[in-house]
Amino acid sequence: MKILFATAEAAPYIKIGGLGDVAAALPKALAQEGAEAAVVLPLYKSIKDRYHGELEYITSFSVPLAWRQVYCGIFRSMVGSVTYYFIDNEYYFLRDSVYGNYDDGERYAYFCKAVLEMLQHIDFFPDIIHANDWQCALIPLFLKAFYQNIEAYRPIKTMFTIHNIEYQGQTPYSFSEDVLGLPKEFMPDISFGGCLNFMFSAICLSDKVTTVSETYATELKMPYYGKEMSPVLSGISYKFCGITNGIDTELFDPQRDPHLFHRYSVKAMGGKKISKRRLREYLGLQQDEDAPILAMVSRLVGHKGLDLVEYVRHELLSRRLQLVVLGTGDERFENMFRELSYQYPERVSANIRFDQDLSSKIYAGCDLFLMPSKSEPCGLSQMIAMRYGAIPIVRETGGLADTVSPVNPEEGTGQGFTFKSYNAHDMLDAVDRALWFYYEKKPELKKVIRSNMEADFSWQSAAGRYMAIYKSM
Ligand code: GLC
Repeated sequence: MKILFATAEAAPYIKIGGLGDVAAALPKALAQEGAEAAVVLPLYKSIKDRYHGELEYITSFSVPLAWRQVYCGIFRSMVGSVTYYFIDNEYYFLRDSVYGNYDDGERYAYFCKAVLEMLQHIDFFPDIIHANDWQCALIPLFLKAFYQNIEAYRPIKTMFTIHNIEYQGQTPYSFSEDVLGLPKEFMPDISFGGCLNFMFSAICLSDKVTTVSETYATELKMPYYGKEMSPVLSGISYKFCGITNGIDTELFDPQRDPHLFHRYSVKAMGGKKISKRRLREYLGLQQDEDAPILAMVSRLVGHKGLDLVEYVRHELLSRRLQLVVLGTGDERFENMFRELSYQYPERVSANIRFDQDLSSKIYAGCDLFLMPSKSEPCGLSQMIAMRYGAIPIVRETGGLADTVSPVNPEEGTGQGFTFKSYNAHDMLDAVDRALWFYYEKKPELKKVIRSNMEADFSWQSAAGRYMAIYKSM
C-alpha cells in the first residue's frame, strides 16, 4: 500500500502547529504498519537554510497553472523508512513567513498542482493521496479535472483530513481564471458561500474525509462548530469519520527528551521536581516550593479560549499558583500576557515566541496544564502534558473530550479537570477544583500523575484505523 501524505508542514523540517507533529508521526506509524509512506511538502526558506546539504535534488519540470507554466524542482530526503519530497519554487516559498502572505491561495494552489504533476516525473504513483487541511485541499479537484486522461493517475484514491475547519481557503471567483484554470463544468465543485472554497471541494470530491478526533467529527455537523459547512459534512456522513490523533511517544518521552533539565520516569520522579525548580530559575519566577505551575503552550488565537483567561485573569492570579505561557498569535492576547508578567513579575512568565526547547522544559516543569479551547479538533499538548506528568484542565470539546477523562478526586482515577460550557467562571471553577486536588489530595494526585504518564497515547491504534480505511478504498 503506497501512501502519499501531502501537507503544508511536517516536523522536524517545519512546524507551525499540531499538523506539523501529525505529518511527522502518522507516516512513521503507517510505515510501521507495513505501508510504503511518503510525505510531500513545500521547500520553505527555513528548510533550505537549515537542511540544504541533506536534501538530494531529483528533477525539475514545469507546472501548468491556468495560462502559465511555473518552475518546480523536486528534492528528497529519508527519515527512517519514510521518504520526504520537497516542492521547490523560490518565488512562492523563499520567504521568511510560512503562512499569512497575501497570495497564500495562489501559493498552495501551485503546491497542489505541483504534487500531482510530480508523480509522473518521479515515477511514484501512490494508491492513496492523503491530503491535509485547506492548503492541500485542491488535490482531489485537480486530480479529477486535469489528470484523468493519464492512465497511471486513474486508480489513485484520495483521503482528505480536516485538522481545523477555521481555515478553509477562500478566494474570489476570478481566482479560477488566473490560477486554477478550471474548466467551467468543475466550478460547482468548488463554489460555496459566494466564493471559491478549497476545503469544500475536497470534502465533496475526496473518496474519504476524516478529522482528528471522534468528538470533533460529531461537532462539525453542528452549526456551532461547523458553521456553514455543517450541512455539507452532515451530507457526507457515509464517507466521513473521526480518528483521534496520537503523539510520537519516542519523541515526547521525559526519559529521553534531550531538552529537559533533568530526565525522569514514573519510577524515578525526582527529575520532575528538579525540572520544576530549574524552570522557575530559568524563567525568573519565585521559588515557592509548594505552589503549582499552571502552564499554557498554545497558539494565542481566539478559538483556543484565551478570552476566558483574559476575563478572569486577576481572579486566577489571586489563587496560589504560578502561570507560565508560551506561544504567539493575536496581538491582543500576546499583550495581555506581557502585561500580566509586568504586573506579577514573580508569578507570571510570558514567553511570546515559538520555542521547541522551552516547550519541553515547560511540559516537564509544570503541574497543571490549561487548554480552555472554544473548539479543539484534537489537541496534542494535553497528551504531551499528561505524558510528562501534568494534570490537564480542559474544556470538554473535540479531542480534549476524547483524551481527558474527568478526575474522581476521592478515588484518584481519571486524567484531568474538565468543564462544559464556554464560560470564564466555569473554567475558573475547574482550576479551583484542580488546585484543591493538588493541595489537599496528595496520594490521589500522585496516582493520577502516574496513570497519566503510563497512558497509551501512541499512534498505533490510529494508524491501524487509517490503514483499514485506506484498504477499504
Ligand atoms: C490543528 C488543530 C489541533 C490538532 C492538530 C493536529 O492544529 O487545531 O487541535 O491537534 O491540527 O491534527
